[in-house]
Amino acid sequence: MLNDIKETPKVLETLLHNNQTEQKPPSADKIYIAASGSSRNAANIAKYFIEKTANVPVIVDFAGEFAHRGVAITKNDLFVPLSQSGETADVLAALKKAKSAGARTFAVTNNENSTIHKLSDAGMPVYAGEEKSIPSTKSFTCQLMCLYLLGLHLGNKYEPVLREVPEKISGFIETEDKTDGIAAEIKEYKNIILLGRGQNHALAEEGALKIKETSYINAASYPAGEFMHGHLAVLDSEFPVISILSRCFDDAENYGLAIKNTRDIRQKRNPRIIELLHSEENKIIAPFITAVMLQLLAYKTAMLLGRDVNRPRGLKKTVESE
Ligand code: F6R
Repeated sequence: MLNDIKETPKVLETLLHNNQTEQKPPSADKIYIAASGSSRNAANIAKYFIEKTANVPVIVDFAGEFAHRGVAITKNDLFVPLSQSGETADVLAALKKAKSAGARTFAVTNNENSTIHKLSDAGMPVYAGEEKSIPSTKSFTCQLMCLYLLGLHLGNKYEPVLREVPEKISGFIETEDKTDGIAAEIKEYKNIILLGRGQNHALAEEGALKIKETSYINAASYPAGEFMHGHLAVLDSEFPVISILSRCFDDAENYGLAIKNTRDIRQKRNPRIIELLHSEENKIIAPFITAVMLQLLAYKTAMLLGRDVNRPRGLKKTVESE
């Protein structure tokens, strides 16, 4: 898993290089992204960027839910099946549903020969290469980059700062011991809450999933504001909170609210609060660094607990049944 994480800058370079010549997605009234697990979390992070850049609504759904409910998708919409394996049964079922509704389909997968990629009208490979460990890391970060590029294509924009992401991640990984103290602390707990606002909430979801699957600690995530509506009653001094406060914010007021929510939780329930942030201030780059930081935190916590991070219990790399 650590090797996979360390390969992230290199595969992102390849992705950014190759993407110059790739197919472009068609414009659409709405974009639906259906995905599972980590892939859905990548979509939820990217949604903020795509909506702003392309000025088009983005609806992210659990693939398994999308496939079996009445969805108001039309032929004017773009459906994106997002799946690193390209074989996830829930995503495939969602893709078939979108196609039967006449939507245009644009796959984002890590395997151009996969069923999902081949069944879609067009697509964009994520170029993550083979991922050795079951928990997705570099493929997650590449999916995120692809979705950012998709937003730029749809908005007919160019964002040179994305080219800096591989080097910034490299620099961050060199200081990876920064998460050691937090890992040593959270490994002592059976439960943990992760909070964030905006993109930091979607990142909290991904952090919670990575911590659960690698260390088996019961990690749950909420939007920091929503958490004030009843959920915080579970907290006590035995129940720590990770508040993600990295600078992924378009909206300064929202960042201020994230800090206020954290302070309010401390006043009301006095749990152990760990503020998670890094020094990257560019709001386009910050989510990528935060994603890698959470992957490293999950990895380190699991290693301290003696878990098999590459082959966590009960998990398969590809979930091939609904
Ligand atoms: C978590 C993880 C899973 C997958 C999910 C979807 O680390 O890897 O949650 O993200 O099973 O898989 P794909 O992206 O292959 O559709």
